Amino acid sequence: MPSRPHSGAGYEPYRHLPPLAGLVDHLSEAIANTGLSVDEVVGRLKRFHYALVRLHGIFNDHIPSEPVYELKMAFSLHAHLCAEHAGALRKRVGEMREPPLGLDKVPHPALERFFDEILAAPGTAARLAAVYELAVPALISGFERHQAESHPLADHPSLRLGRFALLELREIATYGNQAVPALVDEAARGTMRDWLGWLPGLLAEAGGLDGAEPPTPAGPRPAVSWSGEPGPIDLSVRRDDRFSDPYNMGVNAEVYLQDPQYDDASKVIMMFYKRLREIDVPEVMAGIIAQTKGKPWDYTRDMARQLWDEARHAMMGEVGFVSLGIDWRMVPVNFTWSQSLNSQLGPLERHAVLYFIEQGLMPRSGKRHEWEVGRASGHPLAALFQDFDWADEVLHAHIGRTWYVSAMPGPREAMEFGDACWSKVMMNWSAWKRDGLTTHRNWWPDVYRAACTRAGRPVREDQAAYATSYENTRADLKPLAAE
Ligand SMILES: [Fe+2]
Ligand SMILES: [Fe+2]
Repeated sequence: MPSRPHSGAGYEPYRHLPPLAGLVDHLSEAIANTGLSVDEVVGRLKRFHYALVRLHGIFNDHIPSEPVYELKMAFSLHAHLCAEHAGALRKRVGEMREPPLGLDKVPHPALERFFDEILAAPGTAARLAAVYELAVPALISGFERHQAESHPLADHPSLRLGRFALLELREIATYGNQAVPALVDEAARGTMRDWLGWLPGLLAEAGGLDGAEPPTPAGPRPAVSWSGEPGPIDLSVRRDDRFSDPYNMGVNAEVYLQDPQYDDASKVIMMFYKRLREIDVPEVMAGIIAQTKGKPWDYTRDMARQLWDEARHAMMGEVGFVSLGIDWRMVPVNFTWSQSLNSQLGPLERHAVLYFIEQGLMPRSGKRHEWEVGRASGHPLAALFQDFDWADEVLHAHIGRTWYVSAMPGPREAMEFGDACWSKVMMNWSAWKRDGLTTHRNWWPDVYRAACTRAGRPVREDQAAYATSYENTRADLKPLAAE
C-alpha cells in the first residue's frame, strides 16, 4: 500500500506568497491531484488536434461555395483559429513524445465519421447546426475536462495551450450561437432532426471527443446520413444575391488609382472597392490549401493566416463603404478572378498567380501608393486600413516565398510562371459580354456622384467621366493581347 501523502495542511510559502508561482490557490491542490499521465495527456491532445484539423477543413472547404458573404468571412476566421491551435498542439505533442508522433492518424473511426458527416452535409443549415451546436461545444468540453483533470504544475505547458484554445473556441461558439438561429429555421431543423440526433452518438462511440469516457456501442444509423466518402472541395464560387452582375469588369480601379489627375478623395472609393473585392482571395486560397497535399502543417497554418488577412481586407472595404454612406450593393463586386482561377487552373498555378500579383504590390506604386493616397485623402479610416493592408502584404510576400517559390526552380521562374498563368485566365472579358453574362456596365459615375452628394463635395465632371474597363488592361496595368 502506498502511504497517503500529506495534505499540505500547515505548510505555508515564504511570507504567504502565492504557492507554486500562483498556479494554485493552495498547495494541497497540487498534492491531491494525481492527474493524468503523459500518455493520457498526449492521447487527449491528439484528439483535440484531430478535431481542430477537421474543423479547419470544414470551414476552409466551404469558403468558395458558401454564398453568404458574412459566413465566408466567419469561416475564414474560424479556419485560421483552428489551424493556429492545431499547430500549437502538434508542437506540444512533439515535446512529450519522440517521433513518429502519429499526429496524422485517425484517433477513432467514429470520430472520423462524425467529422466526415459534417464535412459532407449538404447545405449551410446542416453544417452550421452540426459545427456550432455539436462539434465546437464537444471540443470545448474536452478542453475543459483536461483543464479540470490534469496536474496544474506537472502539465502546465499543455494546460496553458488549452486555455488559449478555449478562449478562441468560446468566441467561435458565441458566433455560432448567433449565426445558427439567424439562418437555421424550424423547417430546416425538422428535415435534419434524426441526423443531428444521431451525431452525438458517434462521439459517444468514440469514447467522447477526448476519448476520456467508456465507448458506447454504435447507435442505429438514421435514414439520411451523408458521408460515405466526402467528395473533393467544391470550387465553384457562389455569392449571395447582394452581389449582382458578378462578371462585371467595367471599371478598372488600378488605372484610376495610378492617374495623378484624379483627387485622393475619389481614389478612396476605388480603394474601398478594391478591398471589398478581395473577398475573391479567400475563395481562391481555400482551394489551394485543400488541394495542395503533402506539406507540413506550417504550410496550412501560414496559408490559413493569409486567407484570413484577405478576408479582413474585404471587410475593411465593407466598413469603408459604410463609412462613406454608400450602399456597397451599388458596386458590382465581381467574382471573375476567383471563378476563373478555380475553374481553369491547378492549385500550383493558382498559387503562382497569387504570388505574382502580391509581388507586384511591393514597389512604390503598389501598397505604399495606396497608403499615401489614404493619408492624403483626409479619410482617417482609409489611411489606417491601407497601413495595415500594406503590412499584411509584406507578410504575404514572405509566405509566398516560403511555400510557393521554394516549390519552383527559382524566383525568376516563379514570377514568370505566375505571369503566364494569370494571362491565360484573364482573356474572357469579351466572351462574357458576348455570352450575355454581363454588359460590363460602367458603375463608377453613379457611385462617385453618390459619394460626392453624401460628403457634400462638388462633382468633378472629369472624374465622373472615368470609363476605363479591364477590357484591354489587366489589374497590374499590363496590356492584354487581343482575343
Ligand atoms: Fe489583400
Ligand atoms: Fe495578400
